[in-house]
Amino acid sequence: MARLKVGVLISGRGSNLQALIEACAEAGFPAEIVLVISNRADAAGLQHAARAKIPSAVVPHRDFADRAAFDAALSARLEAAGAELVCLAGFLRLLTAGFVARWRDRLVNIHPSLLPAFPGFDTHARALAQGVRFSGCTVHFVRAEMDAGPIILQAAVPVLPGDTEDALAARILEAEHRAYPLALRLLGEGRVTVAGERVEIAGFRASAGFVLNPSG
Ligand code: GRF
Repeated sequence: MARLKVGVLISGRGSNLQALIEACAEAGFPAEIVLVISNRADAAGLQHAARAKIPSAVVPHRDFADRAAFDAALSARLEAAGAELVCLAGFLRLLTAGFVARWRDRLVNIHPSLLPAFPGFDTHARALAQGVRFSGCTVHFVRAEMDAGPIILQAAVPVLPGDTEDALAARILEAEHRAYPLALRLLGEGRVTVAGERVEIAGFRASAGFVLNPSG
């Protein structure tokens, strides 16, 4: 079966990109990355693409008069590469409503919290300040509002006594590297649909029950 063609947008480190690259390299994985775009030439993630021999492009946002022109350039590159799905992976530019509409239900993001809790920046600091016992990550379809949209999957991690922002971020990042490839697999298998702003996954499997933190 044809593999789902994916474009990935990054701005920095690219550890989620690397997780997606590794997943796509597995035999039988139903997606392939056809293009990586960074808005920053110094994004370390570009090296992951180069190492994997995946085409990449730098599209600096400062080269464009406004957001609409920048987003149009992104779309043009993605379409020229044949991308059917766009994954945001640490892409630090807000996309225009026009771009989001053009890629509606074909544009996904990963955010390091259990949305709708803690959208935006300083996620981990706010989670720690609120004293939540679990945080995690969310893979979701993108809507015009930041860090909002139909949720595809989430991974939860405990918040532990003495956690710093860095410690919590690292624990969540590990979960991200499992969650994003799994979401891409489900998408590539064509099992994910949006119905009334909620995601349905054909063959959805989950175990009932609960996890306590503190566990007593
Ligand atoms: C991740 O924490 C992701 O959830 C957020 O930005 C970070 C990107 O990290 N959107 P990396 O560039 O993938 O390492």
